[in-house]
Amino acid sequence: MKLWLDTANIDEIREINAWGVLAGVTTNPTLAGKEGVPFEQRLKEIAAEVDGPVCGEVISTEREGMITEGLKLADVAPNIVVKAPVTPDGYAAVTEFAKRGIKTNMTLCFSPTQAILAAEAGATYISPFLGRVDDIGNDGINLLSEIVEIYRVQGYTTYVLAASLRSPQHVVDSAKVGADVATLPHSVFKALVKHPLTDIGLKRFLDDWEAYQRALG
Ligand code: E4P
Repeated sequence: MKLWLDTANIDEIREINAWGVLAGVTTNPTLAGKEGVPFEQRLKEIAAEVDGPVCGEVISTEREGMITEGLKLADVAPNIVVKAPVTPDGYAAVTEFAKRGIKTNMTLCFSPTQAILAAEAGATYISPFLGRVDDIGNDGINLLSEIVEIYRVQGYTTYVLAASLRSPQHVVDSAKVGADVATLPHSVFKALVKHPLTDIGLKRFLDDWEAYQRALG
């Protein structure tokens, strides 16, 4: 399972990219709005920084507008993936992008039927929003696992991108049920690496090494 960051903040991206494990980035209008710089400028910076797909979302809700915006976004850099919602116009736009060889990520997916339509439209990625499903008292991981199963049974090649993840456990569960990609906020990405026994163990190794060097003189 590839690990992506869900942010438009360039410092967060640089920090995690330095670990060597960052495979892509998702953004959305809410995340872009926190940055205070023109979106296309930021998308260009991110695309230059990351060796992998970088998703930029269209704002228009109609097919023609989505296509115009998506073509502009796709022109920003070769690794841009155009994000569009799972609406009738979104499917129509994604079908057109697929014909033109432009990669897409269908967003705001909350049901297996929306995911089937995305695969039939030729989307590159489908993004079920696990955390938001959990937020309303339903089971986000169950949604993800239904989509993974349907795609496997049907032989769909659209990648399943677990989105709206809130915790390291969401990441573990997404990996267990077979997500192709997980996109994580910076805070969740940082939490993946943390374990108190690693910190305690490392300190002991370093202390023991120092004692050993002192004993050698
Ligand atoms: C994914 O592409 C979305 O940007 C994101 O995961 C939404 O997460 P949220 O529900 O925490 O806003």
